[in-house]
Amino acid sequence: MRTGTGFWLRAAAFAACTASASFAQAQTFPSKPVTMLIPFAAGGPTDVVGRLVGEHMSRTLGQPVIIENAVGAAGTLAGQRLMASPADGHVILIGHTGTHAAAVSLNPNLKYRPVEDFAPVGLVNTNPIFLTVRKTHPSATLAEFVAWVKANEKTASNAHAGVGSVSHTTCLLFNTVVGVKPNGVPYRGTGPAMNDLVAGQVDYLCDQAVNVAPQHRAGTIKTLAVASTARATALPDVPTSTEAGVPGFKVEVWNAMFAPKDTPAPVVTKLNGALKAALADATVKAKLNELGAEIPSAELQEPAGLRFFVGAEIERWAPIIRASGVKIE
Ligand code: MLT
Repeated sequence: MRTGTGFWLRAAAFAACTASASFAQAQTFPSKPVTMLIPFAAGGPTDVVGRLVGEHMSRTLGQPVIIENAVGAAGTLAGQRLMASPADGHVILIGHTGTHAAAVSLNPNLKYRPVEDFAPVGLVNTNPIFLTVRKTHPSATLAEFVAWVKANEKTASNAHAGVGSVSHTTCLLFNTVVGVKPNGVPYRGTGPAMNDLVAGQVDYLCDQAVNVAPQHRAGTIKTLAVASTARATALPDVPTSTEAGVPGFKVEVWNAMFAPKDTPAPVVTKLNGALKAALADATVKAKLNELGAEIPSAELQEPAGLRFFVGAEIERWAPIIRASGVKIE
């Protein structure tokens, strides 16, 4: 197709108009409260981190950041909500390892592509994940628990936040390595799942430091191992999975912020600036560290770093999910 000078002049004028419209939008953004979608129930790790960061972001942005727990389909409904939201930065989402990486291999009907269908804002935190059991459980160590769950797999209850959530995929990895198929008990998030573990209603739960640390310190649950190479700074008395005898049990959990796909770059930059200001704040940092969450590197706090990271995480989870043979129908 041949394009004359007129075409290019019109194209240049269109680009200039679009750029100045984006610039104008960024100048006035945010013009109203920002809704932060949390894919899981209130009181769980995603919710706790989102509220902490959102509260500080509201101070930078000069508008309230309102938390909405948009729960369903192991957190993936919130992603669909974000896709259907206006691309002006007033609706954002905290996604995680499950909703934005493992779900791709687990769920053939996933309604979004985590890399292509969102505008990444920045990685918020990483979070060690632990295998925990009810306080009254007969096992005191991971080795004892492995023997117990092998002997009791037909009745053992494994709480999680829905097929594809990180509590599910993490214990799925453990169950696969150990060779057991216990009864999964799904919840709307690990906030309510942890309540039931503390009440002794379920046998075990794989959950993130943010949820585990307060209960572990209060002695309301038993924490048998952290699924990492190194011990968690927040819970140094808990052995690593390798130390506890199950070296194949390793998982990293992260939370990340996304906006709708066509959000103008200057608006994403403003959101990213507010996120980075929150992560650099001494009080927010101290609170996240106390809860066992870790602040990501400066590169991963950037939109481009997060885009690359999500792609790599999708690839990392694919063989794990394939080996487990699990799929959401
Ligand atoms: C939550 O916030 O409830 C958890 O992150 C859910 C999960 O285990 O994926």
